[in-house]
Amino acid sequence: MTVRNATVEDLPAIAALERACFPADPWPERFFALGMGGLLAAEEDGQLLGYAVLSSVLDEGSLDNIAVSPEHRRRGAADRLLAGVEELARERALSFITLEVRAGNGPAIALYEKHGFAPVGRRKNYYEKPREDAILMTLVL
Ligand SMILES: CC(C)(COP(=O)(O)OP(=O)(O)OC[C@H]1O[C@@H](n2cnc3c(N)ncnc32)[C@H](O)[C@@H]1OP(=O)(O)O)[C@@H](O)C(=O)NCCC(=O)NCCS
Repeated sequence: MTVRNATVEDLPAIAALERACFPADPWPERFFALGMGGLLAAEEDGQLLGYAVLSSVLDEGSLDNIAVSPEHRRRGAADRLLAGVEELARERALSFITLEVRAGNGPAIALYEKHGFAPVGRRKNYYEKPREDAILMTLVL
């Protein structure tokens, strides 16, 4: 398994995986195209396993998206993607990375805590389909 910068050739597969992982409200392919500078892909034998998107403004980073295909979960792909995100953030000299996660998304919250993100706030009814609070988490670099 390797993690690398995504290219335009990866966009259709990334958008397809996004639709599989977030069927109620997937990002369209153009959102990934816009985030290309911070878009990482995890792959194995030429197959896309997952992706992550880091955006930044000045020294503030935001993990905007991360997902791993259902049949390849629990094999460390998200761990590697997050390590890649942290490396990219340090290269950009970011001060912190922030993110929002559904309050009921136990696997993702466990993943972020494992990587040192701490809860810093809550946005009431932030998500729709279904309606749910967002937990805000931050990793100080
Ligand atoms: C969250 C997600 C990205 C994790 O991907 P993954 O490749 O399966 O994760 P990894 O195998 O790298 O696991 C890394 C850590 O995440 C946590 N984790 C992952 N899946 C978990 C689960 N089902 N239950 C509890 N903890 C879990 C654990 O801390 C794990 O470390 P460990 O293996 O040492 O226990 C994946 O479940 C996913 O794509 N979910 C749907 C999309 C999503 O919710 N994205 C986040 C939006 S904010």
